[in-house]
Amino acid sequence: MIATRLVEPGDPPTFALEQLPGPVAGPGEVVVSLRAAALNRRDWWIWTDPASDPLPVTLGSDGAGVVESVGGGVDGVAVGDEVVIDATLGWGDREDEPGEAFDILGSPLDGTFAEQVVVPAANVAPKPARLSWEEAAALSLAGLTAWRAVVTCAEAAPGRSLLITGAGSGVSTFAVQIAAALGAEVWVTSGSEEKLARAAALGAAGGVSYRHPAWPERLVELAGAPLDAAIDSYGGASWAGALRTLRRGSTLVSFGDTGAAEAAIDVSEVYWQWRRIVGTTMGSPREYRALLAHVETASWRPVVDSVFPLAEIDAAARRLDAPERFGKVVLSIPKPS
Ligand SMILES: NC(=O)c1ccc[n+]([C@@H]2O[C@H](COP(=O)([O-])OP(=O)(O)OC[C@H]3O[C@@H](n4cnc5c(N)ncnc54)[C@H](OP(=O)(O)O)[C@@H]3O)[C@@H](O)[C@H]2O)c1
Repeated sequence: MIATRLVEPGDPPTFALEQLPGPVAGPGEVVVSLRAAALNRRDWWIWTDPASDPLPVTLGSDGAGVVESVGGGVDGVAVGDEVVIDATLGWGDREDEPGEAFDILGSPLDGTFAEQVVVPAANVAPKPARLSWEEAAALSLAGLTAWRAVVTCAEAAPGRSLLITGAGSGVSTFAVQIAAALGAEVWVTSGSEEKLARAAALGAAGGVSYRHPAWPERLVELAGAPLDAAIDSYGGASWAGALRTLRRGSTLVSFGDTGAAEAAIDVSEVYWQWRRIVGTTMGSPREYRALLAHVETASWRPVVDSVFPLAEIDAAARRLDAPERFGKVVLSIPKPS
């Protein structure tokens, strides 16, 4: 099988297209012949990290495809099944945190930027029939992260108002649509008027540019009242700004730090305002199944910004960082002849 291997990290990174032996399903595992895979910011963190280890490695957490073979003891998954892959490995039985075995597919374990991948059978689920291969591949990591942030942490529901910062990010395009589908009032920030308009088309009530220093006050004015919760993955100054949009007793949900790892906030903005700061990463297997059940009946679709052939991983990687990108960058993987 062909795999795109990260051989040298950097910005840009060096990928090599290699012919490798196909993976073999061990006990409890399945091999999936991929039809599409999707890029995430996680791949970028790995390919720009000079200390990336192991190398070479096949990146990619997200994929959708057809089950090629099953290992011993696998029940409920059969050769020929069309599936999506949950990239969350070893979550365990608790809902508030994963267990010690927690990991994410796509380094150190070889991931989905390849014609085939081997994963635990428990990590595949039927592909939502109404989605294309590309949409299905875009769904899992960003959709699951958004689901837990929006549903479990921010408690999206009718009567609740939510801020989602950086509406154009992959996860945010899911968060906006899930929150709106669940009846919450969704407000956003973004870097351009065009992206604000696209977020409105996805279900946001409105938004403001995060480039304006007084964006939190502008947002509260637009919304008519301080909000119930904010969901942020930019970190840095975005935290202090998000807190300025919130009412007393509200929740700030954090799942990333694209902008800066450190945030300076006035501590009294938390305790003297009866607020909670909640961190989240990925989600449990139960949350993944709940996301898929929601997708079956929802009318929204994953936002696919662009699709590149697997062999054009370099162009796909460049697109991930293009300022005009809105939503997910996807790799299409031809059916083996
Ligand atoms: N914890 C988890 O499970 C998990 C899962 C997935 C991702 N993440 C993390 O979450 C972050 C987002 O990932 P992603 O793949 O969705 O997207 P991404 O590619 O990192 O998105 C970057 C976004 O940042 C936004 N942005 C730029 N400047 C900003 C500012 N000053 N304030 C607010 N937003 C700003 C932009 O929004 P506009 O395009 O609207 O201008 C842009 O789309 C990453 O750090 C990633 O590592 C975490």
